[in-house]
Amino acid sequence: MARKKKPLLQNITIESIAAEGKALAHIDGTVLFVPQAIPGDVVDVQVTRIRRGYMEGYVTRLVTPSPHRIEPFCCHFGRCGGCKWQALPYPMQLQYKQQQVVDQLVRIGRLDLPEVSPILGSEKTVEYRNKLEYTFSSRRWIFADEESESLSDKELCGVGFHISGMFDKVLDITKCHLQREPTNALRLFVRDYALDHNLSFYDIRAQHGFTRTLIVRTTSTGELMVIVVFGKDAEDSADPDAAGKRSGLLDALSQRFPEINSLYYVINPKGNDTINDLDCILYKGEDAIYEQMEGLRFKIGPKSFYQTNSEQAYRLYSIVREYAREAISQMPEGHKPVIYDLYTGTGTIALFLSSLALKVVGIEYVPEAIEDAKLNAKINSIENSVFFAGDMKEILNAEFILQNGAPDIVVLDPPRAGIHPDVAQVLLEASPNDIIYVSCNPATQARDLAILSKRYRITAVQPIDMFPHTHHLENVVNLTKIKEECR
Ligand SMILES: C[S@@+](CC[C@H](N)C(=O)[O-])C[C@H]1O[C@@H](n2cnc3c(N)ncnc32)[C@H](O)[C@@H]1O
Repeated sequence: MARKKKPLLQNITIESIAAEGKALAHIDGTVLFVPQAIPGDVVDVQVTRIRRGYMEGYVTRLVTPSPHRIEPFCCHFGRCGGCKWQALPYPMQLQYKQQQVVDQLVRIGRLDLPEVSPILGSEKTVEYRNKLEYTFSSRRWIFADEESESLSDKELCGVGFHISGMFDKVLDITKCHLQREPTNALRLFVRDYALDHNLSFYDIRAQHGFTRTLIVRTTSTGELMVIVVFGKDAEDSADPDAAGKRSGLLDALSQRFPEINSLYYVINPKGNDTINDLDCILYKGEDAIYEQMEGLRFKIGPKSFYQTNSEQAYRLYSIVREYAREAISQMPEGHKPVIYDLYTGTGTIALFLSSLALKVVGIEYVPEAIEDAKLNAKINSIENSVFFAGDMKEILNAEFILQNGAPDIVVLDPPRAGIHPDVAQVLLEASPNDIIYVSCNPATQARDLAILSKRYRITAVQPIDMFPHTHHLENVVNLTKIKEECR
C-alpha cells in the first residue's frame, strides 16, 4: 500500500529553540520541530513524522531569514555535524541554553528553583576544544555539484567528520575552527602524505584500509599529542611492508611538526573506532602531555579522559569549589569534611577539592581512569585521596560508606543518562549536608533532582557553556539538606 505523503507546510515562522537544539513552531496547536532554523526565520517545512502532539520535518526553503541571523564563520556549515548554531549570535545561543535549563528543571522536575544564575559563556567561541578526532574515508561525502563518476579513487578520499546521522559518510574538512593550530595543518599533512604514498583510506562499510583516524590533543600550556590510528591493512600480517609504511608516515609527521610532544600510533582492526581497549604504541617523544589548573598538574595519556574545553572546565570546577566552600562555612568551625566525587573520571574534581577536605573519595567505572586519578594524586603529592573503580550502583552502598567515612559533601558528575535510582536512594540514606550535581543533560538532572528533593532543597543553579555553537551545556546545582524540623 502506498504511504500517504506527509504535508509540505509553507511560511512557517520559527518561534524558539527547544531541547536538543531543535527549532520550534506551532501549527494549529501542534508543536513542529525542525533542525537548522533559528527563531524569526520564515521557512517551508517538509513534514517527515507525525506523532500525537508533535510533528518533525526539515526545511526545504528559507523564505525570509530571521533578522537575528548572522553569517556562519565556517565554510562547512550546514553539512558538518558540528557547530550547528553558527547562524545564531552567541548571546542568543546563551539565552536559549539558559532557557533550556529553566524549562527542563521546571517542566520535567517540577522543582522549586532559586534564581538561576546567568549562564557563564565561554571566552573562546572558536578553538576551544583540546581534543579532536578526524576520520579517514575512501568514500567521502560527494556534493550535488560534483560528478561522482568522473572522480578518481584518490579524489573520493577525504579526512574529516561524519555527516550528521550518517556513519559511513565523512565530510572532507579543509579548515575546522574547533581546535588551535596545528590541528588543520596536521590533518592536511597526513591526508596528503597518504595520498602521495598510496596508503589506502579507510572504507567504513567494508572495514578495511590503512589510515583510519587521527586524534589531536592539546593542552592550555601549549603541549601537543598526536595519535595516528591505522586499520587492519596496516598490520604486519596483512602487508610485509606495513611497518615501513607506518614509520614512513610517522617519521615524516614528526619531522614536519617538531612541536609534537607525544606521538603515538594504534592499530585498530575492530568494528568500532574506540582505542580504549587497544595498545597505544609510543612512537616518539613523551608518553603523556600535562594540563595545568591552578597549582595542579594532570597527566593526559592517549586514553585519558579530560574535559574538552579546558578553560571552561576550570570555571566549572571553581563553581563546584565555591559551593563546597559555602557548604563548609555552615559546618562547625574547624570541621574538615569528607567529600565524595562520584563519576570522578580521572579524579580532577576530587583533587581540585582535596585541600578543603579531610579526605576525598572518587568512584568511577573505567579502571584506567582510576589509575590516572591515583597517578594524578601522586604527581601532585595529594595524600588525602582514595579512588575506586566500579559500577556506581554496585560499589556505592552502606558498607562502602561505613568503610570510607560518611560524606559531608557529595559531588555528582554522571554521564548524560544521569544517576541510577539505587544511587539516589543510597545518597538519601547517606544524608550528606550538601550535594553538588554537575550535569551535561538538564533533562535527566531534573528527573534525579526530583528524587533528591524529598530531603534536599535547591539552593543554587549555575549553567555553564562548554560548547559554543552547539546546544550542549553543563549545569551545576547545589542541594542543601532540609533540616528535620522544616520537613
Ligand atoms: C561526565 S564524566 C565525569 C568526568 C569528571 N568528573 C571530570 O570532570 O573529568 C562521567 C564519568 O562517569 C563514568 N561513568 C559512567 N557510568 C558509570 C557508572 N555506572 N558507574 C561509575 N562511573 C560511571 C564515565 O566513565 C565518566 O568518566
